[in-house]
Amino acid sequence: MTENAADTANTQRMTVVVTGASGRTGSRVAQAARGAGLTVRAASRAQGFDWEDPTTWAELLRDADAAYLMYPSDIGSPAAAEGIGALARKAVGLGVRRLVLLSARGEDQALPAEEALKSSGADWTIVRATWFSQNFSEGPLVEGMIHGELVFPAGEVKEPFVDVRDIADVVVAVLTSGDRYAGRTLELTGPRLLSWRAAVAEISEATGATITYTPVPVRAYGEALTGFGVPPEEVDLLMEVFEALMDGRNAHVTDDVREVLGRKPRDFDDFAREAAAAGTWKA
Ligand SMILES: NC(=O)c1ccc[n+]([C@@H]2O[C@H](COP(=O)([O-])OP(=O)(O)OC[C@H]3O[C@@H](n4cnc5c(N)ncnc54)[C@H](OP(=O)(O)O)[C@@H]3O)[C@@H](O)[C@H]2O)c1
Repeated sequence: MTENAADTANTQRMTVVVTGASGRTGSRVAQAARGAGLTVRAASRAQGFDWEDPTTWAELLRDADAAYLMYPSDIGSPAAAEGIGALARKAVGLGVRRLVLLSARGEDQALPAEEALKSSGADWTIVRATWFSQNFSEGPLVEGMIHGELVFPAGEVKEPFVDVRDIADVVVAVLTSGDRYAGRTLELTGPRLLSWRAAVAEISEATGATITYTPVPVRAYGEALTGFGVPPEEVDLLMEVFEALMDGRNAHVTDDVREVLGRKPRDFDDFAREAAAAGTWKA
C-alpha cells in the first residue's frame, strides 16, 4: 500500500467525538468530518452528553480516536477551564489522546481553559477563532437584523470575521494530518478586515433591504441583556470580553487557514450573499 493510501485507510477508520454537534461550529465539523470519511460521534445533550455531568462523558468517549471540544457558551467562562481539563484527562485516560479545542482569539479569559488542555497529557491542538461571520446569521443577533437594525457594542473597530465552515475544514484537516499540528495553537481569521458597520452594510446590500448598525456603549448593551433575562454572571463575562476584544487587538489577519488548507479563507461577501439567498434575514 502507498503512504497516501495508508493515510486514507487510517483516516476512514477514525472515530471522532464532536461536542456541540448541534451548534454553529460542531454541526459543520461533523459535516466536514463525514465528508472526509471519518466516523462522527455527535455529543450534545440530545445524545446524553452534558458538560455539567461528568458521568455522561465516558460513554461518548470510549473507543474513539479523537475529539473536537467546544465549551458552551463561552470558552472564557470560569467553569470552562475545569470542564475542559477534567474532560481532557478523562479522554486521555480512555486512550482518546488527539484533542482539538475551539478557543477565542485575543480573549485572555480563555487562557486557563487552553492551559488545562495542554496539561492534560493530550496530543492537543488549539484553534483560536476570531468573531464568526455566522454571528450575524445564527444566534441572538439575527432578530435585530431582521427588523432592520443591529445594535452592538463594537464601535468602529475592525475585525477579520471568519466563516465557521473554514473553522470546520481546519479542524478536520488537523485531525487527519497525524501529529503535524499537535502542540500547535492556530489563529483563524477571514481574509479581510471589516468594521461591524461595513459588515452590516454588506449584508444590507446582499439582501436588498436596509439594515443599519447602531454602536452602543458596552455598559448599555449589558443592561439591555439583563433586561432580556440573561443571567447576571453571563452578562458580566460578556461585558468583560466585549470591552477587551473591541480595543483593536484582533484587527489584523493571519495566514493560518491558508497554511492548513492550502487555500484562502472564505470572504465575508460570499457568506453574506449565500445567507441572504437562503432567506436568513427575511421577516
Ligand atoms: N461566536 C464567536 O464569534 C466565537 C469566536 C471564537 C470562539 N467562540 C467560542 O465558540 C464556542 C461556542 O461554539 P458554537 O458557536 O459552535 O456553539 P453554539 O452554536 O453556541 O452551540 C452550543 C452547542 O453546545 C451544546 N451544549 C449547550 N450546553 C451544553 C451542555 N451543558 N452540555 C453539552 N452540550 C451543550 C448545544 O447543544 P444542545 O443544546 O443540544 O446540548 C450546542 O450544540 C464558545 O466556547 C465560544 O467562546 C465563539
